[in-house]
Amino acid sequence: NIVPITSKKPGEMNLIVLLYDISEIRRLEKVRTDFVANASHELRTPVTALKGFAETLLDGAMEDPIILKQFLEIILAESTRLNLLVNDILELSKLEQRQVPLALQEVNISEAVLATFQLVDQKVKEKNMTLELVEKDFVTLHTDPNRLKQILANLINNAVVYTQAGGHITVTVERTAEQVRLHVADNGIGIPEADLGRVFERFYRVDRARSRNSGGTGLGLSIVKYLVENMNGTVTVASKQGKGTTFTVTLPL
Ligand SMILES: Nc1ncnc2c1ncn2[C@@H]1O[C@H](COP(=O)(O)OP(=O)(O)OP(=O)(O)O)[C@@H](O)[C@H]1O
Ligand SMILES: [Mg+2]
Repeated sequence: NIVPITSKKPGEMNLIVLLYDISEIRRLEKVRTDFVANASHELRTPVTALKGFAETLLDGAMEDPIILKQFLEIILAESTRLNLLVNDILELSKLEQRQVPLALQEVNISEAVLATFQLVDQKVKEKNMTLELVEKDFVTLHTDPNRLKQILANLINNAVVYTQAGGHITVTVERTAEQVRLHVADNGIGIPEADLGRVFERFYRVDRARSRNSGGTGLGLSIVKYLVENMNGTVTVASKQGKGTTFTVTLPL
């Protein structure tokens, strides 16, 4: 903005020049439009499948009971995926608009970890894996237990999904003078170095086809990052392809 100011001296002109740095606003606008574009793209995949299989059935394929069953199963799987996607997108948007009130209470971290282990119990047994909690320090945190469990559930679930059968997952709880540190470590497929910086991005998946088969939406880690940062913490990742991955969440006490 340039505002001219007339001077008392004839022939002299003063200007006030106002400069605004709007790069952050522009960056956020881009994040938003990218998100809408990505979300629409992700939603289109299951919707196209639903439409295609339903049309094929109506065109006559439903007369064959075997094909009918096969297609209905695909339709069920795709609608489940659609449901997951919509839930995750809504969850993120609720978080961003801060519609989810915090319910703070004293939470024992190890107990929260053990409660989360139960959520993946079935999958862990099927894949013949082992889960271990290493409590280096007894830590309680004044926080929202549901949010903490949401963070843990996403990280532990990833560890289970992206680790081959027979693998091992360790969650370590430790404290320093001012922080609590949670490590979720697996000995699974790992993340290639080139992708490490991007896994917290919305919809980012290292192996799209594979992750889609496992039902992944690519939103889990962006929800984790959002929640952790809202608790004034940080989340980092270290990984070696083929060796395993460790996510570390650091929260202020
Ligand atoms: N423990 C892990 N080991 C290896 N790769 C991982 C691990 N955790 C995450 N990833 C990679 O990071 C990507 C993003 O993870 P994220 O949890 O955000 O999405 P997702 O698991 O694909 O889907 P969902 O939203 O259902 O969790 C995954 O697709 C996977 O490629
Ligand atoms: Mg995930």
